[in-house]
Amino acid sequence: MADLSKITNIEDLRVIAKRRVPKMFYDYADSGAWTEGTYRANESDFQKIKLRQRVAVNMEGRSTRTTMIGQDVAMPVAIAPTGLTGMQHADGEILGARAAKAFGIPFTLSTMSICSLEDIAENTDRHPFWFQLYVMKDRDFIERLIERAKAANVTALQLTLDLQILGQRHKDIKNGLTAPPKPTIKNLINLATKPRWCMGMLGTKRRTFGNIAGHAKGVKDLSSLSAWTSEQFDPALSWADVEWIKKLWGGKLILKGIMDVEDARLAANSGADALIVSNHGGRQLDGAPSSIAALPAIVEAVGSEIEVWMDGGVRSGQDVLKARALGARGTMIGRSFLYGLGAHGQEGVTRALQIIHKELDITMAFCGRTQIDTVDSSILLPGTF
Ligand SMILES: Cc1cc2nc3c(=O)[nH]c(=O)nc-3n(C[C@H](O)[C@H](O)[C@H](O)COP(=O)(O)O)c2cc1C
Repeated sequence: MADLSKITNIEDLRVIAKRRVPKMFYDYADSGAWTEGTYRANESDFQKIKLRQRVAVNMEGRSTRTTMIGQDVAMPVAIAPTGLTGMQHADGEILGARAAKAFGIPFTLSTMSICSLEDIAENTDRHPFWFQLYVMKDRDFIERLIERAKAANVTALQLTLDLQILGQRHKDIKNGLTAPPKPTIKNLINLATKPRWCMGMLGTKRRTFGNIAGHAKGVKDLSSLSAWTSEQFDPALSWADVEWIKKLWGGKLILKGIMDVEDARLAANSGADALIVSNHGGRQLDGAPSSIAALPAIVEAVGSEIEVWMDGGVRSGQDVLKARALGARGTMIGRSFLYGLGAHGQEGVTRALQIIHKELDITMAFCGRTQIDTVDSSILLPGTF
């Protein structure tokens, strides 16, 4: 086991991941749409919110334990669904799910994952996990995918609503992103500098979209697979589809990608169990506000009817605390998880979770609170949020 004790924050993990992960996959994670303004604001808007330091308050017996949709969590953090995670590190989704399980927080598998639903179930002793669904035009495929999720012991479905079409990410186009990478000279030269990553990939058979390959009609090889995926995202997705998915699934449903109060009201009326204030980590509509800036109005509008969570820019336990103070019952982490994974595999994810937990616990204490469930906006300095 590597000694990761000198890795003290998420930025350390990002720097190591950048060194170890092939350029096209590192860039895929560390990028946003168009000018990346929303991507940057997700992080920088957290910094503007200031905390009230309290002293001489008994700080013993602290706990960050709480619940998200009724499920016990060691802290109000879940791993967000991220596509191509098994390209950041071989078998990345399995490693992420194992680290989350050991830490006591939920793991969400993306539709666009490398490891399949069945891979996660088999390699985590069928420990419950969450699954994120993209609605594809091929509705038979969706029906079968939902059945597979049930069989794999998925306990909550996250339906992503903000990717009917793809926000343009310049780096992915320039890098010619594919899974696995095409053997071009440029890629081979870059891969030659990433021996650990290459060894990992040689040791696994999971190198393309595991939930899709072998399951979608007409998909036989890599080129038919990429053609299928790029034309399958459904621009006609509507609230009627949300109702259809809700019936088909029949279990806990979380709606992901809500940024507007009107949509939040529709989400609450849909009967879903939670909504996630999310701009997809700044990867879709550049020019949208940061998630943390959008959160308070949505909490005020529907917070008493539905659990409101947020993601986007969470890089520390302080960010988790601020989100919680502004009414988010839970948060999700995308890049903080991916950087840990790219840097050190499962141990790196565990390290990321330890870092966030420690920052959350200590900051909560500085703010004079010992229980996460008692945190509200009174820990924040008025005028800064
Ligand atoms: C590399 C990458 C891939 C992603 N893939 C998906 C996906 O397949 N499905 C989805 O709903 N969201 C996806 N997201 C968005 C995340 O679920 C989450 O909303 C976002 O990462 C949160 O922002 P953060 O990375 O700043 O924590 C992806 C994000 C990243 C960074």
